[in-house]
Amino acid sequence: MPSLKHLPADAPADQIAAILDSDGALILDNVLDAAGVAAVRAEIDPYIEATPPGRDGFAGYKTTRTGALVARSPACRELVMHPAVIAACDAFLKRACDRYVLHLTQVIRIGPGQPKQPLHRDRLAWGGFIPMSIEPQLNTIWAMTDFTQANGATQVVPGSPTWDESRSAHAEEVGYAEMKAGSVLVYSGSVIHAGGENQTDADRVGINITYCLGWLRQEENQYLSCPPAIARTLDPQLQALLGYAMGGYALGYYSPPLPPGEGPEVVSPQYALGENVGHGFGEEDLREAVTQRVREKLNAAE
Ligand SMILES: [Fe+2]
Repeated sequence: MPSLKHLPADAPADQIAAILDSDGALILDNVLDAAGVAAVRAEIDPYIEATPPGRDGFAGYKTTRTGALVARSPACRELVMHPAVIAACDAFLKRACDRYVLHLTQVIRIGPGQPKQPLHRDRLAWGGFIPMSIEPQLNTIWAMTDFTQANGATQVVPGSPTWDESRSAHAEEVGYAEMKAGSVLVYSGSVIHAGGENQTDADRVGINITYCLGWLRQEENQYLSCPPAIARTLDPQLQALLGYAMGGYALGYYSPPLPPGEGPEVVSPQYALGENVGHGFGEEDLREAVTQRVREKLNAAE
């Protein structure tokens, strides 16, 4: 059975990105200590307990999925912005975007008796339209309980990001993201994986926090899960990750729907948070980034 590489939480981001390219997944050990895990659990457990199980075989009839974690849990905000993960996102995602965003936040509780989830690549959220040459996302699962093969540790097929899209995995090619509570599975959108089967009598709880290229639609609609009234109270870095910032020179602006002449016409979404932002599209650096890319393509074509 293949196994996943384990790294310390302070591993270099370039090393993490290289392993994501080749293997598609790795584990950062002991990012949170027991007190850190307990602090997160104290905030999310009431929401988990109130969440009904899934309504189809993919979501899992004995699995619960609980979202809106940025709005609901200050401790989860710290996970979203954890420096090790942000550094990995910078190294891994900025190869294909100027800015990345939060894709989804979801506590996944796999209950006793839940069978294996079907193997899949998370990039299929975009319908299979993105060519394999573009990596659209970086994902994390923060273990809130120990993850074991017996209790539903995530199934992962190391090396599958480099496979032809049509190749499926044999049973002997599937490994398990076994890790201690407080550790983090980091995986790409291109690695074949799935939730594991829970053969124990206790829940397996993990927090799925994922990030995607800033020019793609987010799986969890962050503007609705964390509306402006809540977002305006948050750290500016987190506001931008939610999508309350331009995703590119012309990506994400809006026009406040006010009577004629009573407001600006074109503003960044930060304006909705009460920020005193300038009018017009994105900042100069975003425009220059696109211009430079076009220039390089024209030069290469000559
Ligand atoms: Fe998945």
